[in-house]
Amino acid sequence: MQSLLNKKIVLGISGGIAAYKTPELARLLMQEGASVQVVMTEAAQQFVTPVTMQALTGNPVYTSQWDSSIANNMAHIELSRSADVILIAPTSADLMAKLSLGLADDLLSTLCLARDCPLLLAPAMNKQMWEHAATQRSAERLEKDGVTLLGPASGFQACGEVGMGRMLEPTEIAEQVIAFFQKKTLLGKKVLITAGPTFEAIDPVRGITNHSSGKMGFAIARAALEAGAQVHLIAGPCELPTPLETTGKITRTNVVSAKEMHATALANVDYDLFFAVAAVADWGIAKPAKEKMKRQGASTPTIEFVANPDILLDVAKLVKTKGGKPYPYCVGFAAESTDLEKHADEKRKRKGIPMIVGNIGPETFGSDLNQLVIIDASGSKKTAKAEKLHLARQLIGLVAKKI
Ligand code: C5P
Repeated sequence: MQSLLNKKIVLGISGGIAAYKTPELARLLMQEGASVQVVMTEAAQQFVTPVTMQALTGNPVYTSQWDSSIANNMAHIELSRSADVILIAPTSADLMAKLSLGLADDLLSTLCLARDCPLLLAPAMNKQMWEHAATQRSAERLEKDGVTLLGPASGFQACGEVGMGRMLEPTEIAEQVIAFFQKKTLLGKKVLITAGPTFEAIDPVRGITNHSSGKMGFAIARAALEAGAQVHLIAGPCELPTPLETTGKITRTNVVSAKEMHATALANVDYDLFFAVAAVADWGIAKPAKEKMKRQGASTPTIEFVANPDILLDVAKLVKTKGGKPYPYCVGFAAESTDLEKHADEKRKRKGIPMIVGNIGPETFGSDLNQLVIIDASGSKKTAKAEKLHLARQLIGLVAKKI
């Protein structure tokens, strides 16, 4: 799935050491189906060459407003008219200041002033420069003018200092550009998601878990963020990176056991939507050993289980109504080895939830692909087999209409 198919992006580059990451960004945008037209300031060419950008994008690179190769000599108008977005990465403090004042003294700044498409800026500078009152004023003004700032992040800087001002990584910028183009069906909504497996400790080194990778739950978190929601992701043990972390719109709580996941979820159910995607262990260990259990000859241990609390069932019991609609609207998930639709619908009724989503196997766990059957009181609907992120976006679009 290409999330930027048919999108035309003007990629501006201004003078900053982070420009060494821009070729990688161009590649990522193109991998997602975008066509990329690069415009560079004079200073940018000290850090990365137009030849590099031309070779990567397959398009001529524009560096001057006096470029006679453009028939009407109106590059600043032509380029923005055909673009879906102008993205500038890195954006220097100097360029931010210029854009915030509406100055237009080179091709890139003129293009921004003459544009009729959205403008996304990924600032990159030394932390003192970022924190300077003048830069903060520029940032505030630009945001007031409807410009979107992507980052900056905090971390190691080329100058050897540590602090705010680092450009977001190319993957983070690409994710945010993709998010920018998604429909904002959950704007202002709060979403709670459980994801991944749980781990029930037998002793300090052993335990019982399952094959859940967390990919479906994380994809739903990303799709909800793309749709404009604020997300709380409660994740069992899994290595996946937090989606769209740099937007500041996601809180992730890592938990280990089902009991911990239950306590975290039930601590606050003030959400518009709850997706119970986690593969929660049905049973915990009654008395986990405090020390590592030692082998004792040929004898084997007997492990006693206790039933774990049902997170979804307990959240569903707390559902209220808001504007005549359930709050939170609860969506369960089901993976079955037989009679998926029948068992899933039984589960939906037993747990008292309006919607359940069945994973049509067999290779759901760990895979990037999935096929779903979405079941509510009105019946069931199968999706095509597709990438989990694609399915998550479909599901979010559907559920957004219910709340
Ligand atoms: O009961 P079962 O595990 O088959 O139901 C699956 C659905 O219930 C999933 O949405 C899962 O996240 C949720 N669940 C839960 N807490 C449990 C068991 C399952 O939230 N203890």
